[in-house]
Amino acid sequence: MAKKRWFSKKRTLFLVVCLGVILVAVIIAVAVAGWLAIRVPASPFDGAASAETSSPKLIQRGEYVARLGDCVACHSIPNSRAFTGGLKMATPLGSIYTTNITPERETGIGAYSLADFDRALRHGVAPGRHRLYPAMPYPSFAKLSDDDVRALYAYFMHAVPPVRQQNKPGNISSPWNARWLLALWNAFFTPSGTYQPKDAAVPGRISTLWNRGAYLVQGPGHCGGCHTPRGFAMHELALDESDPRYLSGALLDGWYAPSLRNDSNTGLGRWSEAEIIQFLKTGRNRHAVVFGSMTDAFNNSTQFMRDDDLKAIAHYLKSLPGDAERDGEPLEYKAAWIAAMPPSEWLKIPGAQTFMTQCSACHGQDGRGQSQWIPPLAGAASSLARENASSINVTLNGSTRVVADGIPSAYRMPAFRNQLSDQEIADVLTFVRTSWGNEGCAVKAKDVRALREQTNPASSNVIVLQMR
Ligand code: HEC
Ligand code: HEC
Ligand code: HEC
Repeated sequence: MAKKRWFSKKRTLFLVVCLGVILVAVIIAVAVAGWLAIRVPASPFDGAASAETSSPKLIQRGEYVARLGDCVACHSIPNSRAFTGGLKMATPLGSIYTTNITPERETGIGAYSLADFDRALRHGVAPGRHRLYPAMPYPSFAKLSDDDVRALYAYFMHAVPPVRQQNKPGNISSPWNARWLLALWNAFFTPSGTYQPKDAAVPGRISTLWNRGAYLVQGPGHCGGCHTPRGFAMHELALDESDPRYLSGALLDGWYAPSLRNDSNTGLGRWSEAEIIQFLKTGRNRHAVVFGSMTDAFNNSTQFMRDDDLKAIAHYLKSLPGDAERDGEPLEYKAAWIAAMPPSEWLKIPGAQTFMTQCSACHGQDGRGQSQWIPPLAGAASSLARENASSINVTLNGSTRVVADGIPSAYRMPAFRNQLSDQEIADVLTFVRTSWGNEGCAVKAKDVRALREQTNPASSNVIVLQMR
């Protein structure tokens, strides 16, 4: 009986219709994917003559936009000529190298028209439908204004010396190295369209200053590349303030870039606008000193920003609400914490002895650091964040030189990689993260071991710069 029903005409018809629908859906999906893969996005500069692009004023503006975008930090390696590329960056599928963006015609971008340059910068498509990996922050650069793109082009074409240097191939293996796949990624994760100012008519909140700040942070500054958490496809989970995950803190390349929202403990809630400006301009303030991957952003970008632009950035960041649930009770500094205990008592706390002998000369027994030169550990975002990567990484490896105004900083966090064991580092950081009122969670020896391996240049499992 059942058999007979299976072959009933109705059932057959139903199956045929289902298969037909699936087939049509597959054909449509393939057609859309194919269309996306071969589509060349339009540029407002298509067909534009580039003769007017070499005025000194435009070039100067372009140089400034290149500073805002920190192009040099990715498109150079130490001791190389600027913008010749060669920096190794990791993607989840393997490594790629940044490219030569000097105006050399064969190995660089010398043959690019303004429209070609625009498509690479704002859409991630280089000439020949060559899709770029989003390690190049085009999801952020998509917001750049036409005028800034034109200025950047003028700068690269007329003020950067051409250098002949071949690009290095990456090591992403087949089939993932097929670049048309990136067209699909782009379709989902790269918005198109330049930054649109919010209505300046709303009194008090949306001002020209706020809009300029939003533009700088979301667009050229690509702050979210490090400070916004990423999803399963390594895409930033939010690209502007309409989503509370925007700039809410993220782990990348073995560093934790903390929240830039008004979270009191782990964000900028306790910072004034003036203190944010001071940090971005001089690399330090009473709360923190630049370290980790922020050093790149500071050394090559934020310190060169004009005062009015820094003001705009600070103003915009201070408008982003924190999240008390994520951030916890506001920290209460407990000054008398150690003083109240006899040494025989506090020396029993694991890590206390290491702190007193190795760290307190600089960071102070009271954990408050020394004016602006040595940052406090009491109340530092790195001590309060749930993620302990920054605490561990800076203790293992110290910091790279912060160079403000051409002058390298006199004080640096030393590397303790060779002095302290995994357990000693875990203990001293657990001590730091739970003293003076700090309530970051404990650090385990296995966390230290993992980062020690990943940040050891001799290891085969070393962290290279990721998408940021
Ligand atoms: C976070 C690192 C990073 C930053 C910052 C960055 N780039 Fe890139 N860029 C890359 C990477 C990586 C590639 C190569 C991507 C690939 O091969 O798929 C690239 C590719 C390019 C290309 C395409 C070049 C070619 O070979 O066709 C251009 C043009 C470019 N970048 C310009 C810029 C400019 C201008 C800036 C600053 C406004 C900038 N980039 C900032 C990482 C970066
Ligand atoms: C390459 C990654 C990267 C980029 C890009 C980046 N940051 Fe950071 N930032 C970090 C890391 C990592 C830290 C934590 C280390 C530190 O405090 O210096 C940090 C720290 C900070 C802090 C101090 C926070 C605190 O509580 O101590 C501020 C403020 C900041 N960044 C602002 C910015 C702004 C504004 C931009 C964009 C113009 C930006 N960052 C771009 C990685 C980055
Ligand atoms: C020679 C002085 C010196 C000593 C000793 C020292 N530090 Fe540091 N530390 C610094 C400086 C300076 C910075 C800021 C980054 C920079 O400019 O190098 C820093 C930054 C840090 C940070 C990041 C703070 C933040 O703003 O989030 C942590 C965590 C830290 N140190 C932990 C330690 C620990 C743990 C020890 C002992 C094992 C130690 N330091 C010993 C000078 C020192």
